[in-house]
Amino acid sequence: MSKLWGGRFTKETNELVEKFTASISFDQKLALEDIEGSMAHVQMLGECGIIPMNDVELIKQGLKTIENKIINGDVQFSVEDEDIHMNIEKMLLEEIGPVGGKLHTGRSRNDQVATDMHLYLRKQTLELIELVKSVQSSLLVQAKENVETIMPGYTHLQRAQPILFAHHLLAYFWMFERDKERLIDSLKRINWLPLGAGALAGTTFPIDRERTAELLGFETVYPNSLDAVSDRDFILEFLSIASIMMTHISRISEELVIWSSQEYQFVELDDSFCTGSSIMPQKKNPDVPELLRGKTGRVYGNLIGLLTVLKGLPLAYNKDMQEDKEGMLDTVETLNGSLRLLAPMIETMTVHKEKMYSAVAQDYSNATDIADYLVTKGLPFRQAHEIIGKIVLFAIQHKKYLLDLTIEEYKSFSPLFGENIFEVLQPKHVVEARNSYGGTSSEQVKQQIQLAETKIISH
Ligand code: ARG
Repeated sequence: MSKLWGGRFTKETNELVEKFTASISFDQKLALEDIEGSMAHVQMLGECGIIPMNDVELIKQGLKTIENKIINGDVQFSVEDEDIHMNIEKMLLEEIGPVGGKLHTGRSRNDQVATDMHLYLRKQTLELIELVKSVQSSLLVQAKENVETIMPGYTHLQRAQPILFAHHLLAYFWMFERDKERLIDSLKRINWLPLGAGALAGTTFPIDRERTAELLGFETVYPNSLDAVSDRDFILEFLSIASIMMTHISRISEELVIWSSQEYQFVELDDSFCTGSSIMPQKKNPDVPELLRGKTGRVYGNLIGLLTVLKGLPLAYNKDMQEDKEGMLDTVETLNGSLRLLAPMIETMTVHKEKMYSAVAQDYSNATDIADYLVTKGLPFRQAHEIIGKIVLFAIQHKKYLLDLTIEEYKSFSPLFGENIFEVLQPKHVVEARNSYGGTSSEQVKQQIQLAETKIISH
């Protein structure tokens, strides 16, 4: 059988052109969505009296047979048939004969492909939402085990103030919470149905687009046929959300790489999530978080790629738009795989609480608390800051930490110091003192955990 659009041509397609323009090598991933869309379309055509119901049944049976064959890996897609839409239509014709040719009534590949992409992204987005939740759950598991674990909090990667490890982990929980919200929100726009827009201008047949939308579970139909076939915002939106998510994944991965280094030894990743070196026998490398960090690049690339493809395209469909698929498919796969790894990696890591604590004990991260101490004694914060700066300098010069100075030494900087300064300087005290809403005290962190738990259950 020749090309489905072969009628007006007098020559065979150049072989290189055929290969260059074909998308079947990658859009075969949309096969099941393509069939789902066709099933609904043909049902609607029948209900509207555009084609006889007997034919509808034949076509649906044919599609069902093809669907089963695809699921069982029993089909051979062909480059000559260019893309998934024409491959399936050709199979249908072979399966049930010329009546199969009625399926494409009132439809174009332009509204068909857009519909496939909507269906595909909806399914994938729902799965991703569940995967984000699993990452959030692992963060919660570790947070709950570490409501007592004190670690240095950093700014500029310099020790700043002690915090609870649970608090640090929960910071990521909220990033993923926003990601999840973004995915959920994007479903509103994914759930616009393009089908029925025809090639660009609508169709002469008395179709019922609302009915197709209902059959496919869409909330609404695109009100403008040109927009329906030209819109790829929903993919751009997905790629943007994915990019933000990968940023979060990359940031926590970076922390895991740092924390599991010899220099920090705050955590140890489970052996099953690490790999070795082919030359250095002692090595245990954090390849997984490194690769998660690295994969972020390709996801950003896919976003920029599609933005660039669409920029400057006149309405309506242009073949350039076929370039929307590989980046989207790759991003779905990358993000899905990343989340699947991140969750168990976090959950199985060992936390070296004593290492974290000793890091806090050997620094000056309680300096702010001495300043706050003088403030409670009535000194303006700026003056207190100045005094403590001098105390820190004095301590560094004498190779001591703030807890090692004597009360006399403290008093020599300000008569406002009393014995209880040593109490105030204990890391535990420093942490617990930050009891403002959203702060790192164990009371606040426990409240945060409670709130976090409601977020996992409520979606
Ligand atoms: N394979 C094409 C794509 O992915 C399907 C739409 C083709 N439409 C057309 N007018 N050539 O964009």
